[in-house]
Amino acid sequence: TVVGGVRTFELTARPGTREFLPGVTTPTWGFDGPYLGPTLRAERGERVAVRVTNELDETTSVHWHGMHLPPAMDGGPHQPIAPGDTWEPTWEIDQPAATLWYHPHPHGATEEHVYRGLAGLFLLDDDASRAADLPSRYGVDDVPVVVQDKVFDDDGRLELRHDGGEPGTLGDTVMTNGTVGAYHEVTTERVRLRLLNGSTARTYSFGFEDRSFDLVATDGGLLDAPVRLDEVRLAPGERAEIVVAFEPGDVTRLRSTEPDLGGVAASFAMGGNDAFDVLELRAADDLAPSPAPAWGPSSHAGEDELRAEDATMGRSFELADRMINGERMDMSRIDEVVTVGDTEVWEVRNAHPVPHSFHVHDVQFRILTIDGREPPPGLAGPKDTVYLEPRRTYRLLMRFEDYTDTEMPYMYHCHMLLHEDEGMMGQFLVV
Ligand code: C2O
Ligand code: CU
Ligand code: CU
Repeated sequence: TVVGGVRTFELTARPGTREFLPGVTTPTWGFDGPYLGPTLRAERGERVAVRVTNELDETTSVHWHGMHLPPAMDGGPHQPIAPGDTWEPTWEIDQPAATLWYHPHPHGATEEHVYRGLAGLFLLDDDASRAADLPSRYGVDDVPVVVQDKVFDDDGRLELRHDGGEPGTLGDTVMTNGTVGAYHEVTTERVRLRLLNGSTARTYSFGFEDRSFDLVATDGGLLDAPVRLDEVRLAPGERAEIVVAFEPGDVTRLRSTEPDLGGVAASFAMGGNDAFDVLELRAADDLAPSPAPAWGPSSHAGEDELRAEDATMGRSFELADRMINGERMDMSRIDEVVTVGDTEVWEVRNAHPVPHSFHVHDVQFRILTIDGREPPPGLAGPKDTVYLEPRRTYRLLMRFEDYTDTEMPYMYHCHMLLHEDEGMMGQFLVV
C-alpha cells in the first residue's frame, strides 16, 4: 500500500509449521506465512517503509541484501529486533532495477534464522527494466526461484549439521520456493527465472540438460546485453535472472549439477551428491508469443558509470580461517573507513582451499579482474556477492554514495552463513 507517497510493507517474523515432506510436519519460521516471506516490490525513486515485527522468542533483524540505503536502515547486526518489538526502517529506492532479497542478520545466528525459513525477495523496477524486452508477468512468465538445501532429521525437523566440516550445512533435499519437487506450468515462449541461492552453504551450478539460456541480470541488475550460457554458478547470496525458451509441449528441468568450485580441496567440496532437480518446467501445447530478450545501450544512459580510473583508494582483504585480514568480526571495532563519494578498488583474496562467497553491503560492484584476467561475461554485470575460488584474487570496483554515518557501520562478509557467524565479517563506515 502507498500511504502519503510512501510504499509501505509489513513483515512479521513468526514460528509456524509446514508439510514439506508428505505426512511430515516440520517446525519452521517465516515472514507472515510459515516459511519464507512475501515478495516485496518497489519502483526506483519511491520511498519505502517497512514495519518489521518480531514474534519469535529470540532477537532477529532484517537486512535488505543488495540495497543502497543508510546504514541505520540496513538491518545488520546493529539493528536487532527484540522479541515482541517492531522496527520501522524507511529509505528511498535509488538504484537500477534488480532482484534483491531480505533476510535476518543477527550477530552470530544468521545461519540458523535463514535456515529455519526467514528470507524473501525484494524486486526493484525502473524505466529501463520496463522498456527491456523481458518476460515480466510475475508468477506467469517471470518466476522467482529461491533455492535452498535442507537436512530433515528423523522427526522431520530442519537440522543444521556442522559435522560435514568446512562449508557448513549441506542438505540432501533441495527446495524451490519452499517446495520439494517444485514445477511450473509454462504458457509463454519464454520464461524469466529469478534465481536466488538462498542456501546457507551450498554453491550450485544451474542449467538444463537440453538447452542453453540467456543470462540477463546479475545481483544488481541488467547486464549490458544478454549472455548465452549453458550453466550459471551461484554461491550463497548470489542472484541471476535467466530467460529460457520453450517449444509447445516441452518438459524440461532446471537442475543443479556439481559446480566447478575452482581448486577446492576435495575434503571441503560440496559433499557427495551434488546433482539436484530444482524446478520442472512443463510447457503447454499452445504458447503465447514472447520476444527474445533485448535492450539497447540507452537503457543504462544516465547511470553514473563505474570507471576504474576514478578509483582513489585500494584496500585488500584476505579471507582465511574464519577471519578477514587476520581478524574475526568484532561489533565494537571499525575495520575500514571510507570517504563518501569515493570510488575504490577492493582486492579480495581467498587464501584458503575452502569456498567463500564475498558480500559487501550498500554497494553494487564490478569485478575488474580475477587473478589479473577479465572476468567471464557472466560475471561482468553489477554484483554485490561473488564466489571466491581458492587462491585467487578478485579486484572489485565500487563507489560509496550518499549516506554517511560516523558511528553506524555497514558489513562485508562471507555469505556462507556459518563462516559469517563464526567471524568472517568486518565493518566499514562511510563518512
Ligand atoms: Cu545477505 Cu550481510 O547479507
Ligand atoms: Cu547484504
Ligand atoms: Cu566463507
